[in-house]
Amino acid sequence: MTVAEVREKYLKFFKQRGHTIIPSASLVPENDASVLFTTAGMQPFVPYLLGEPHPAGRRLVNIQKCIRTGDIDEVGDNTHLTFFEMMGNWSLGDYFKNEAIAWSYELLTSKKEGFGLDPKRLYITVFEGNENAPRDEESAKIWEKVGVPSNRIYFMPASKNWWEAGPSGPCGPDTEMYYDLTENGLGDLTQTQFLEADVKQQIVEIWNNVFMEYLKKGGTVVGKLPQKNVDTGAGLERFCAVLQGKKSVFETDAFTPIMRKLNELSPNGEPRAKRIIADHLRAAVFLIADGITPSNTDRGYVLRRLIRRAVRFGKQLGLKTSDYSTLAELISTLHGGIYSQILENLRMIAKEVLPDEVRAFELTLERGMKEFEKGTEPFILFTSYGFPIELTRELAAEKGRILDEAKFADEMAKHQTLSRAGAEKKFKGGLADTSEMSLRYHTATHLLHQALRDVLGSEVRQKGSNITPERLRFDFAFPRKMTEEEKKRVEDIVNEKIRAKLPMQRVVLPLEEAKKTGALHFFGEKYGDEVSIYYIGDSLETAYSKEFCGGPHVSNTETLGTFKIAKEEAVSAGVRRIKAVLNN
Ligand code: ALA
Repeated sequence: MTVAEVREKYLKFFKQRGHTIIPSASLVPENDASVLFTTAGMQPFVPYLLGEPHPAGRRLVNIQKCIRTGDIDEVGDNTHLTFFEMMGNWSLGDYFKNEAIAWSYELLTSKKEGFGLDPKRLYITVFEGNENAPRDEESAKIWEKVGVPSNRIYFMPASKNWWEAGPSGPCGPDTEMYYDLTENGLGDLTQTQFLEADVKQQIVEIWNNVFMEYLKKGGTVVGKLPQKNVDTGAGLERFCAVLQGKKSVFETDAFTPIMRKLNELSPNGEPRAKRIIADHLRAAVFLIADGITPSNTDRGYVLRRLIRRAVRFGKQLGLKTSDYSTLAELISTLHGGIYSQILENLRMIAKEVLPDEVRAFELTLERGMKEFEKGTEPFILFTSYGFPIELTRELAAEKGRILDEAKFADEMAKHQTLSRAGAEKKFKGGLADTSEMSLRYHTATHLLHQALRDVLGSEVRQKGSNITPERLRFDFAFPRKMTEEEKKRVEDIVNEKIRAKLPMQRVVLPLEEAKKTGALHFFGEKYGDEVSIYYIGDSLETAYSKEFCGGPHVSNTETLGTFKIAKEEAVSAGVRRIKAVLNN
């Protein structure tokens, strides 16, 4: 079954069951400054999941274009993509678990109306329950009723079977469908075997039904929504791989024309480089069609990174500037029939925005190459010429040389320390001002750092800190503005830790051992053989916060008073700054 046939069948199946087919929304979310891109089919529906009536009714079906860049480094394997399309059917306060599950099963397995997948290769997960919502026995029973044996239904925790787009908004437990890709079939699996098979990619998640009936605010479930909704999502490319019996999305007809062209342009090029270019250029075409242009901030920066990455791998394949336009035109013909904005903007995409960015980056690369030939240091190439270190590494390897990684890391660390020291005066070695108030702010900074990671995710990285007796200032890497709810949540966590009267303690450990504790530290920074760790809590193991730090600090959080974020703003692309105060 071709990708076009899969699209059609999915939409038709739900149309026949009372759903209105609606078009994909833009990749740029409307009226939602808190997210850069549409990352799931449900995002454009948030107001309707919350209860506003949708003009097209209560049963909808669509195929939504999505961008997810969280796993960009995984692209090139069998399943990861930065751009993909998500098939979804929606009940906005209409049907619930019974119909959703029965239809999912019918569409997957029916030979007549559906895709005719083998029911013996299907596995199901459901939510095991927690303080927010009960164990989803109801869904498990419905699965059994439609024909799935109970030993193929696994109860899983919220980390697997709870869906939400962010710390605030509609959310709920979900039930996921997995399909066995192995040649002979795995048969019955215990829960442990099932989880192992997932890790080995022997089984693949093909569809997710979310039962959205809860509301979260600032990371906490605050109650039920006025209506019960269904939000389902099935990645089109992955779905096609399963139906077409392919191991990888790149072998499906969603990609084969692009891969064929790349093979023509570079018969001996590395397959992984081709996959990355195919994915990134597809994303770039769709982003430009939705009005994004390359820049150094936010959405424009993501587009720039995707194009530059494509060019970097294109270099390995020996692609010419014009080849990117050829590929973009090909991608446009594949998708233009459904997404008219691509054809409407084709000239701009393939002849202006894309080639301009490609050329600019090629110049950077050329200049860097010349400097490389002259023997310029990798560190200078990177900091003064914007020449990616991966390329220096590859070029060095081609010449039979090995990049001195330790030296590079060393110089980078010094450079980072210098720029931090320049910008921040003094922090690293310890606090400049050791007044009681500054000690409080210093300890509060550690709490803030951990709370930000709790609320925004562990990709939050400290970029700098500055403390005076009046306030703290904390800079961290994060791609967007924080929402009001996120700020509130961070404040609440810090204040909760203050009220818990936690001790601030110190331990000195050999560097390797210190790293093993999981204590936060600057990546690539040079540390001595022994480092000092400050931790907040009763023991190092159970501590709420742990950081490599020279101190000094207060001895207990109880002296801090009340923590409040005064300001949250951008300092540069991808770096946010918080100013916060403590009041008694
Ligand atoms: N919103 C759900 C997902 O993206 C369906 O997986």
